[in-house]
Amino acid sequence: MMHEILPEVRAFLARAQKLLIGGEHVPAASGDTFETLDPATGLALARVAAGDAEDIARAVQAARTAFPAWAALMPAERERLLHRLADLMEAHRAELAQLETLDNGKPYRVAFNVEMNVAIGQLRYYAGWPTKLTGETYAVSSPDFHVYTRREPLGVCAAITPWNYSIVMATQKIGPALACGNTLVLKPAEQTPLAALRLGELALEAGIPPGVLNVVTGLGETAGAALSRHPGVDKIAFTGSTEVGRTIAATAAATLKHVSLELGGKSPLIIWDDADLEAAAEAAVWAIFSNSGQNCVAGSRLYVHTKVYDRVLEAVVKRTRQLNVGPGLAEDSDLGPLISQAQLDRALGFVERGALEGAALRTGGHRLGGALGAGYFLEPTIFDGVADDMAVGAAEIFGPVLSVFAFEDEDDVVRRANASPFGLAAGLWTNHLARAHRMAARLRAGVVWINTYDWFDPAVPFGGVGQSGYGRELGSQVMGMYTELKSVWVKL
Ligand code: NAI
Ligand code: MG
Repeated sequence: MMHEILPEVRAFLARAQKLLIGGEHVPAASGDTFETLDPATGLALARVAAGDAEDIARAVQAARTAFPAWAALMPAERERLLHRLADLMEAHRAELAQLETLDNGKPYRVAFNVEMNVAIGQLRYYAGWPTKLTGETYAVSSPDFHVYTRREPLGVCAAITPWNYSIVMATQKIGPALACGNTLVLKPAEQTPLAALRLGELALEAGIPPGVLNVVTGLGETAGAALSRHPGVDKIAFTGSTEVGRTIAATAAATLKHVSLELGGKSPLIIWDDADLEAAAEAAVWAIFSNSGQNCVAGSRLYVHTKVYDRVLEAVVKRTRQLNVGPGLAEDSDLGPLISQAQLDRALGFVERGALEGAALRTGGHRLGGALGAGYFLEPTIFDGVADDMAVGAAEIFGPVLSVFAFEDEDDVVRRANASPFGLAAGLWTNHLARAHRMAARLRAGVVWINTYDWFDPAVPFGGVGQSGYGRELGSQVMGMYTELKSVWVKL
């Protein structure tokens, strides 16, 4: 059974999508447009304005103009408006989820239940913050002064987001930026511009003033690069590839913008012989294959203790073969297509290289055509017999490809898990209490999940170390990344 496309989604897709600057729908100054595709069919979904440097300059100006009034708004009023946006997201949950499914390919069930829940939850969490931001007073070593800090917004922030969770990636940056009194220019990924545009409209409908949230669609090399260069931008929050993260940090350095980077990973998942093996195998399957492996925290390196290696590998392969790959609108799809032909080619390239380098293909490895037509579908793929330095086992693939390794002891697995230049997430399956906590401390990662994987909460900090980036999102400390502290000295 296929989900019916909603009439409001059809109407949205039929419109020529413009930029959202200062509360107005405007075409790109150049008049250029680009197509966004449905990855389940490879066909065009909608035509979208291709913003470039000139449009970015207009959007930054609009955000700058809107900033003083937004920053001066009573905190309780900012809270009300952010909650109102969350209410509208709830009211338009099916519509937004369908836009995400059509633009990104992921199963509608996941977009509706998981992605929308997370996005709305984040927004509500941040909506609660404006009234809770505080400064401090200080016991300075002189009787003559009263000293305190004020927490002030940065000004104009920029968000450059990827295509794998287009709604969550947007709310994760809109929430704290706006809660702290900043205004924002959002540049969504060119593969998935639609939900962000709709979100921008809902923000206006919620009563968030024009110019507070601007959405400029366009390519990374033009619109994205212009944002990271623009002197009127005070902070850039980026999620995407390590390569582009490096470029953005270098470009932003010229004007000393604040930068936070959430980049890639090659996250290890470690299963000990004393773990609940059935639960661990099931979790390992979802750790890598959810969102078709297009997940920054994908558990793409699975280390299994030698004693239980064969048993766990067999269970993981068996469960993987039961996964249903199909269009996101089909009710029984577990996994959708990859985002693009480029991403499919990239994943297939790694599969080919893995086989050439001598890794053993245990399941998958092929594009799925036939009834699935021209969509970018790839079988979930598992290799074992992978040497630590093979590309398939070391590079971020960002597709449904798992490498399985055997390990002997704690030192061995910690050394190999930490050998990656990335350090985003790690998973650990064991019932040995001391070992669990000892290893949680030893693993080089921004998040460690023990006997679970892939849990997020807006209250819990998230981010990586090493080539996975710097800065954290979510949690209370992110408010510090969207504000400056001003120290005020008063002579008594
Ligand atoms: P990307 O890093 O090129 O794109 C992410 C965002 O950055 C998009 O909005 C894009 O328009 C923008 N961008 C691209 N070039 C830019 C530039 N020079 N200046 C400013 N902004 C720029 O990621 P892409 O090409 O879509 O995917 C390539 C690889 O990146 C994937 O195979 C995966 O390994 C990794 N990736 C990681 C993500 C994560 O969540 N950690 C998300 C997306 C991709
Ligand atoms: Mg790119």
